Amino acid sequence: MSFLHESHPANALIIGASQGIGLGFVQKLIQDDRIGKIYTTYRQPETATELISIANAYPHKLTCLVMDITEESQIEKCIQKIGADIKKLHLVVNCVGILHDSSLQPEKSLRQINSENLLRYFQINSIAAVLLAKHLLPLFKHPENSIFACISAKVGSIGDNRLGGWYGYRASKAGLNMFMKTTAIEYKRRTPKTIVVTLHPGTTDTRLSQPFQKNVPVEKLFSVEHTVNQLMDVMENLKDNDTGEFFSWDGSKLPW
Ligand SMILES: NC(=O)c1ccc[n+]([C@@H]2O[C@H](COP(=O)([O-])OP(=O)(O)OC[C@H]3O[C@@H](n4cnc5c(N)ncnc54)[C@H](OP(=O)(O)O)[C@@H]3O)[C@@H](O)[C@H]2O)c1
Repeated sequence: MSFLHESHPANALIIGASQGIGLGFVQKLIQDDRIGKIYTTYRQPETATELISIANAYPHKLTCLVMDITEESQIEKCIQKIGADIKKLHLVVNCVGILHDSSLQPEKSLRQINSENLLRYFQINSIAAVLLAKHLLPLFKHPENSIFACISAKVGSIGDNRLGGWYGYRASKAGLNMFMKTTAIEYKRRTPKTIVVTLHPGTTDTRLSQPFQKNVPVEKLFSVEHTVNQLMDVMENLKDNDTGEFFSWDGSKLPW
């Protein structure tokens, strides 16, 4: 099954589109004639200049909305605006995530555990996604195929955790995976044409991976364009019974 058809253009929403993988999705979808309208969200104009300039070049296709994913009221407002405009979505990709910033570094050891930092990881990387699932449901309730994907990370796999470290990031991505698995079960009842998945993009050359790239072999560090092409391939090949699964960039299923 595919959510993309030549006959009727699909509507897409890319959340966290200011930079990195989210911006890469916008750059790809803007060139795809099977996509009608693209809605995107960003949190602050300072890091969204490229996104805003694409929106200025394609005003009929691309709409940018402000959304800080830690504020449920902003999530609700954005989705209401989209609903008032187009009523149905076919592709939603949540690309928001945090690993580090000026006041947050992934923990190397238990000594560095701090509850405030853990809360930030969970609020951005896991809780936001289930709030999106809550508010997006009405826009998926239509008879056409659709996909709700969240970008997760292989380090969130409990079964695959051999190295340890990065407590907050790992646990928040494991939490994201559980939220999406549980969402998939409820969506199956309430919006059966929607496939819900989490996706591991592979190590991708973005702000998020930048401080950790030096030990990554060149062939394992993907460009944003490469990652987006692979994840689009994975999504276009999803089958109904793939809902609730966790996929890697090559289409293989990852262990929980
Ligand atoms: N890059 C990799 O190697 C890699 C590997 C595995 C998984 N991932 C996952 O892939 C996804 C995309 O990451 P990326 O590599 O593209 O990172 P990135 O370039 O740092 O982009 C992260 C995005 O999240 C947004 N964001 C952060 N906090 C937010 C908040 N409170 N509200 C709204 N938006 C917020 C950022 O917006 P601002 O511009 O406003 O900060 C930005 O658009 C993340 O979920 C990440 O965990 C990445």
